[in-house]
Amino acid sequence: MTDLRTDIDAVVRDLAAARDRTLHLTDLDEPELLRQHDPLMSPLVWDLAHIGQQEDLWLLRGGQAGRCGILPPDVEQLYDAFTHPRAVRATLPLLPPVDARSYVAEVRARVLDRVADADAFEVAMVVSHEQQHDETMLQTLQLRRGPAVLGAGTPLPPGRPGVAGTSVLVPGGPAVIGVDGTDEPFSLDNERGAHTVDVPAFRIGRVPVTNAEYAGFIGDGGYARPELWSERGWQVRTDMGLAHPMGWHGDGTRTRFGLVEEVPGDEPVQHITWFEADAYARWAGARLPTEVEWEKAAAWDPATGRRRRHPWGSAEPTPDLANLGGTALRPAPVGAYPAGASAYGVEQLMGDVWEWTSSDFTAWPGFTPMLYADYSAPFFGGDYKVLRGGAWSVGASILRPSFRNWDHPQRRQVFSGVRLAWDV
Ligand SMILES: [Fe+2]
Repeated sequence: MTDLRTDIDAVVRDLAAARDRTLHLTDLDEPELLRQHDPLMSPLVWDLAHIGQQEDLWLLRGGQAGRCGILPPDVEQLYDAFTHPRAVRATLPLLPPVDARSYVAEVRARVLDRVADADAFEVAMVVSHEQQHDETMLQTLQLRRGPAVLGAGTPLPPGRPGVAGTSVLVPGGPAVIGVDGTDEPFSLDNERGAHTVDVPAFRIGRVPVTNAEYAGFIGDGGYARPELWSERGWQVRTDMGLAHPMGWHGDGTRTRFGLVEEVPGDEPVQHITWFEADAYARWAGARLPTEVEWEKAAAWDPATGRRRRHPWGSAEPTPDLANLGGTALRPAPVGAYPAGASAYGVEQLMGDVWEWTSSDFTAWPGFTPMLYADYSAPFFGGDYKVLRGGAWSVGASILRPSFRNWDHPQRRQVFSGVRLAWDV
């Protein structure tokens, strides 16, 4: 199949695209790069050098941390995510921005020297890592206070009226969930293996829940009615003082990457915790989809009895199919991508906002850790809920309908939203 991205040239182009994005997001004054903008996030200069450190580890040393890399071991260990929590990274003797830039450039030059012999999956894994950190840096820049440094974002297609609040039926029956390396050579370990699940019939939102719909929940006292919240959710709401999505001001405006603007009613709501998504769904007489339901609605084609590579078919994502890549700095209005609909007619599954599901993060049957063995396995069974679909902030080349993201249910710096589901 020509649409499978297995050739090394394509992966090298993806490496270059990820680096362009990284350098754009870190093209900031030194104080901005060194500052801890939020306790949840690393200083941007840590992400920058960590991107290089991981590329050095996986592509220059085959994952053998005991082998000497470009950095002295006492400096390299500063970039071990498992050793140093994000909240303390600004206190570490990190490489200054100028040294971090030359380090990542040196690693990349050595990688390109030998990439012709590299394993394409391992290079793709490093692309995925860098793109995921680019998204993390966007979260940091969203939390940052001060004048805008990224502008307002690139234009998006208009939405269409009449789709918000509508749903589609997904009839009961088997679907293949997850993928194998033969179908999706660059899928990460937690997306494998492909397995058949008999999924009872359900309805699912045609599009994600909008800001206008979410404002209805707020206006109806949603944040003041404990009966709409799980017990733990109500506790989190109280402890965190939640009253509206992150960035909203309670007067119909919000701050987005340093710019104050009216909250657009037809845009998917973002920056909500899992608990807010769960309470909203209860208020709306619905529930969150399971990740299996989400993936069936996104990838299964009942006419052929096979998975599609993307909701719309086999074509790679383009700007008329999905809002991806991180330049828009916002989700697109609902109804903006009719050509991106899945076989069941569900829209905006990929891009726009990560969608909270009701599912805990666990291994699919047949799970085997990949080279980067600590990518998924340490997190299985932890206090995490699965998010699906990828937000506007995700690099298009790393996303698939099988892609699984996970975070703590009280987090909302993620570009997270919600799509409803209903039993039939
Ligand atoms: Fe990382």
